[in-house]
Amino acid sequence: EKNCYILGIESSCDDTAAAVINNGTVLSNVVATQKIHEEYGGVVPELASRAHQQNIIPVVDQALRKANIDKNQLSAIAFTRGPGLMGSLLVGTSFSKSLALGLGIPLIDVHHMQAHILAHFIKAKEQTPPNFPFLALTISGGHTQIVKVTDYFTMELLGQTIDDAVGEAFDKSAKILGFPYPGGPLIDKYAQLGNPKAYPFTKPKVSPMDFSFSGLKTAVLYFIEREVKANPNFIAENRNDICASIQYTIVSYLMDKLKNAVKHTGIKEIAIGGGVSANSGIRKALAEAEKKYGWTTHVPRFEYCTDNAAMIAIVGELKYKKELFAETNVVANARMKF
Ligand code: KG4
Ligand code: ZN
Repeated sequence: EKNCYILGIESSCDDTAAAVINNGTVLSNVVATQKIHEEYGGVVPELASRAHQQNIIPVVDQALRKANIDKNQLSAIAFTRGPGLMGSLLVGTSFSKSLALGLGIPLIDVHHMQAHILAHFIKAKEQTPPNFPFLALTISGGHTQIVKVTDYFTMELLGQTIDDAVGEAFDKSAKILGFPYPGGPLIDKYAQLGNPKAYPFTKPKVSPMDFSFSGLKTAVLYFIEREVKANPNFIAENRNDICASIQYTIVSYLMDKLKNAVKHTGIKEIAIGGGVSANSGIRKALAEAEKKYGWTTHVPRFEYCTDNAAMIAIVGELKYKKELFAETNVVANARMKF
C-alpha cells in the first residue's frame, strides 16, 4: 500500500469545502458554509458560484495548514465533477485542474453521490464501515436516493425522488410554519415533544423504491391554511404536534421505501448519509429496524453526512490506489450519472 496524501475539493452546491486524507484518516476537513442564501430561503445558484470563487483559496489553504502538510507533499487532487449546480462545479473543477497541473500530480474526478456513500469508509472512532453488498440511503436538501452498493465503484440506483428532496420537504414545511431556513432541524426539535399521530398526512404513491415529496408540502400548506382560518393561533398552540406529525409521515415513508429495497434485494446491511440523517426520528426508526428485522445500520459522523470534502478525498484515495485518474480535459457535469 502506497502512503498517500489526497486533497479533496467539494463545490457542488453552497458549501465550499477542502480536506486532506492520509490512508483513510482525515487530517483536516474545512467547510465554508454560505450564509447568503438564508435570506432567500434556498440556494441562489449565481450567488453560490460567486461565493465559491471568494472562498476556495482560503479554504484550501486552511485545509493544508490544519493537516500540517505542504502542497508539495500532496499525491493527487480529487474534486467533485458532478452532479450539482453548474456554476458552482465549475469553480472547483477549474481550480483543481490548475492546482494539479501546477504541482504536476494526478487529478481525480469524483461523483458527488458516490462520495456521500463512500464517506462510510473514512476511518473514525467507534465506526465500522458497511460490508458489501449494502443499501445506501442518501437523504439531504439536494438528494433522496436508494443505491445498491456491490463494491466501491459498482453501484446501482434503485430509486430516487421524482420531485423534491426529503430535506426540502422538511424545509418547505418549516417555512409554512414560519420557521427560519433551513427549518428541518427545528421540525426535529419540536417533533420530539409532540404526538406523531395527531394529524395524519397521506403518503404519496409512486413506484416502490421511488420518492415524491411535493404532495406532502401542498397537503401541509392546505391543512395549515384551513386550521389557521378557524383559529389564528393554531400553529403556536399545536406546534409540537404539527411537527411530530410531519416528521412521522416523512420518516415512515423513508422506512417504507427502505423495506421495499430490502425485500427487492435481500440485503439487510443499510448505510445512510446526507444532512437529514441527523434526524432523530430516522435514527430511532433505524435502531428499531435493527431489532425488529435484523438489519445492520450505519450512520457516519455528522460532519461526513452533510456536504464535505473528506468524502471527496476518500474517493480520491480509493481511485488513486487503482490509478483511476481523470484526463486533463475533464469537464464538470451537472447531471452526472452513476
Ligand atoms: O447534506 P446537507 O447539509 O446539504 C445538502 O442539502 O446537500 O443537508 C441539509 C438538509 C436541510 O434540508 C436540513 O433541513 C436537513 O438537511 N436537516 C434535517 C436535520 N438536520 C439537517 N432535517 C431534519 N431533521 C434534522 N435533524
Ligand atoms: Zn450532497
